[in-house]
Amino acid sequence: MAEDFFERYFWAEDLGIGVDVSRIHNYSNDYGNLNQKITRAFNAMAALESGGIANGDENRMVGHYWLRNSGLAPTVGIKSEIENSITQIERFALAVHKGDIVGQDGRFKNVLCLGIGGSALGPRLISTALSNPKKDKMKLYFIDNTDPDGIDYMADILDGQLGKTLVICMSKSGGTQETKNALIEIEQLYNSHGLTFSRHALAVTCKDSKLDHQAKKDGWISRFPMWDWVGGRTSVTSVVGLLPAALQGIDFKKFLSGARDMDSISRRQIEENPAMVLAVAWYSASLGHGKKDMVVIPYKDRLGLFTSYLQQLIMESLGKRHDANGLEVHQGISVYGNKGSTDQHAYVQQLRDGLDNFFVTFIEVLKARVGESIDIEPGVKTGDYLEGFFLGTRLALTESGRESITLTIREMNAYYMGILIALYERAVGFYASLINVNAYDQPGVEAGKKAAKDVLRVQQLILEYLSSQNTNMTSLEIAEAIGGDKELVFKLLEHLAANGRVSREWSDSVRNLKYMTKISD
Ligand code: PA5
Repeated sequence: MAEDFFERYFWAEDLGIGVDVSRIHNYSNDYGNLNQKITRAFNAMAALESGGIANGDENRMVGHYWLRNSGLAPTVGIKSEIENSITQIERFALAVHKGDIVGQDGRFKNVLCLGIGGSALGPRLISTALSNPKKDKMKLYFIDNTDPDGIDYMADILDGQLGKTLVICMSKSGGTQETKNALIEIEQLYNSHGLTFSRHALAVTCKDSKLDHQAKKDGWISRFPMWDWVGGRTSVTSVVGLLPAALQGIDFKKFLSGARDMDSISRRQIEENPAMVLAVAWYSASLGHGKKDMVVIPYKDRLGLFTSYLQQLIMESLGKRHDANGLEVHQGISVYGNKGSTDQHAYVQQLRDGLDNFFVTFIEVLKARVGESIDIEPGVKTGDYLEGFFLGTRLALTESGRESITLTIREMNAYYMGILIALYERAVGFYASLINVNAYDQPGVEAGKKAAKDVLRVQQLILEYLSSQNTNMTSLEIAEAIGGDKELVFKLLEHLAANGRVSREWSDSVRNLKYMTKISD
């Protein structure tokens, strides 16, 4: 047993969730000099929940908590928008399931979700974690990239079924390039099969976004709302997560009630507040400066995508160059992981014996399965092994002086999925206050989007320049002529050549490779 286990195991009997921080070396039950920061974090969270402006850059409120308890919404208008969206989801899903809304080839059987980041990770997690292949009403698929080969792969999977496939295009901003590209290709795919795309399409986006206008103009089946006060990575309890879940047949109201109950207990004082305990444990383990990575290992297959989901929630929220006072701090916590016991056969070796630059979060699910288990050895079941591997690995790490947190939940279902989501959303919010960064902006993501546009402008210049020339040229000559970065121009030429859009002629070295505009036959 870890020292002080019973003093540092925070179990909420009413919800059936516990956080064990007894293996975090610096965690102190009197919170030492963190007390002031903890008070600030509670105050900041209370201000957010009552409608304070949290995202200074975008001048918006941050109110994902209202989505699962509309009574907390700061205005009557927001409250009724939330409630209406839930009614809209329920009615729509029922109409699809009953066959009142159908595709060109009959009842809808599949849902293809287009979206990226916060508009994909949450719905995908829920769909996988809560699927019941015998009961699911529809099969969900996702395109979350602008990879042509990935789109072809999905097109092949849905070959012959497009007319029974509902396409949900989800983008809060309604202008994200990857999603826009996937939409253009999928619409074209429907057209090429003689199908009317609008009869299969739904939009989830903010009012008056480009996507909203397109869906309205083209007469898509329906448009569902997103709001500026819901951040992308905290949107899984909005229409973004709920609509695909409802279509799949998941009890999304149970999911919402789990999130609501976790919100509610994480308004309590720290000793009874799993989210604040978690935030303080992160602070203690990473010295308040991300000095250690967070390795998340859920011992449950259904939670296999949980780490990717957390990676976005935590890294996009906390990974910031500046703190709230504008000081350069380079904050954040790196997150990785997959699931147990699988990871024991992958990288746990390093966790035990290698570099000590991480703390683990084990996620333990007490109930092994819904039905009965057979004995695989006298008196031993498969789930006993899973528990044994978890406890054994944790012990081995502890013996090597490696830190870990253990989250324990009673069972895995829609309610507990809601609990886990809200627990982490709130822990991230608290931790951001402890380290004084804004968890609700993402300047780095915006910078990446701008950089991609600049690259495509250079590509355009290359193509225009080559078509104005009638001769073979090296990448260095082309870069000089258009005033572009030499490496970038080379990389773009190689990409264009590999895709048959310029001709390429090998000579003695990469430096002397020659490119020419493609002469059409
Ligand atoms: O968390 C975020 O804000 C981002 O990851 C977004 O979810 C992502 O960029 C997709 O944005 P949108 O939903 O506007 O297409």
